[in-house]
Amino acid sequence: MAAIEVKENIYWVGAVDWNIRDFHGYSTESGTSYNAYLIKDEKTVLFDTVKKELKGDLLHHLRQIIDPSKIDYLVVNHVEMDHSGSLPEIIELIKPEKIFCSPMGKKAIIEHFHREDWPLEVVKSGDSISLGKRSVQFIETKMLHWPDSMFSYIPEDKLLISSDAFGHHWATSERFDDEVDTDQLMKHAAKYYANILMIFSPVVQKLLAQVKEMNLEIEIIAPDHGIIWRKSPRMIIEAYDRWSRYEAKEKVVIIYDSMWHSTEKMAKTIMNALQREGIKHVKLLHARRAHRSDIITEILDAGAIILGSPTLNNNIMPAMADILTYLKGLRPKHKVAAAFGSFGWSGESVKHLNNYLEEIGLETVHPGVKIKNVPTHDSLKDCTELGTAVARALKA
Ligand code: FEO
Repeated sequence: MAAIEVKENIYWVGAVDWNIRDFHGYSTESGTSYNAYLIKDEKTVLFDTVKKELKGDLLHHLRQIIDPSKIDYLVVNHVEMDHSGSLPEIIELIKPEKIFCSPMGKKAIIEHFHREDWPLEVVKSGDSISLGKRSVQFIETKMLHWPDSMFSYIPEDKLLISSDAFGHHWATSERFDDEVDTDQLMKHAAKYYANILMIFSPVVQKLLAQVKEMNLEIEIIAPDHGIIWRKSPRMIIEAYDRWSRYEAKEKVVIIYDSMWHSTEKMAKTIMNALQREGIKHVKLLHARRAHRSDIITEILDAGAIILGSPTLNNNIMPAMADILTYLKGLRPKHKVAAAFGSFGWSGESVKHLNNYLEEIGLETVHPGVKIKNVPTHDSLKDCTELGTAVARALKA
C-alpha cells in the first residue's frame, strides 16, 4: 500500500493486517489495521506506531514521505502492543527529540519496554505543543481503552486522532468512510464497541460530555483501527452516544447449547412465543456455532437476553460458560433476562444461568424453566409462558 494523505501534510502511514483472525478472543474475520499518522511541519511528528510484525509496512509508508530519521517527535496515544509493538525499533531509528505520552502512558511505556532512557515527556489534558503552523492538544481518555490512552487534537485541521475510540477491525484498501459501504462500516464499528468498549460505557458518556463542553470542532476522526471518518464523524459520535447509553431495540437474543436437541426445542418454543407476542427481531444463537464476539455484538442493541443450557456434570455446557464469562466482563446493562434448560437427573443448569444473570446485574423476569429429558407438547407450555413473560417485560 501507499501512504495516504488525510489533509495537506497529514498522512496515514499505518499497516493493514489482512490475516489476523483472532484479537485476544475477538474474531477478526475481516482483519484489521493499525493506523499511525504523520504530520509534517516545522516539527514533524509521528502519532503511534504499529504491531511489531508489521513494522516494515510503517517504515515503507514513512519513507514515501520523509527520511524517518528526520522525524522530530513521537506521540504515544496508547501503549497496547498493537500500537506500540514496534516502538523500540522505531525509536532506535528515529531517535526522536521527544516522546509525548500521558502520565499513565509513561508508566505503561516503562513497564512494557523497561527503557528509562527514552526522552519521555508527559502531557496532560489541556496541554498543547506547537509544531509550527499547527499545534497538538492532548486529551487524556483513561480507560478508552487503557489507563494510558489519550486523544491528540489538531485544531487547525479540526482533526481528532482518537486512538482506539471510534475504531473497528476491518482490513481495507480504502481509508475513508466515503469510500466504503456505510452499513458494513457501522456493523464493524458496532462489533468493536460491543467487544472492546461496552464495559467502559459510563466513561464514554463522560468523555462525550467533556468533548461537548470543550466545544471541539471535529471534521475528521482518525482512529487507530480501520476507516477514517471524514464524511460523517457525527454518525459515529452519535452511535457511541446511543451504545454508551445502552439504548436497546425491541430485540431478543436467545443463546443456548444443547446435547440431544431438548434444550434446542425449548429455545425454539420460546422464540415462537416471543414472535406471537409481536417481537419481530429475535436471534437464536447456538453457543458452539456462533462466535462469542458475534453474540456480544447482537446483545449490544438487544432489550432482552434469554440463556439456555442442559445440565452437564451438575453445571452448564462449557461453551455457555465461555460466553457468560466474556459477557460478565463486558457488563451489559438495562436488559431483561430469563433462563431455561433440560436435564437428565440433577438439573442445576437453570440455577447456574440465573446466578450468572444476577452477577451480571440483569433483571430476570421469570424464575426459569427446567424440563426433564425430552420435552412434551404439554411441558413446552412452560417455555411459551417464559417467552411471553420476556416479551411483555420488553414491551412494558
Ligand atoms: Fe488497539 Fe487497546 O489497542
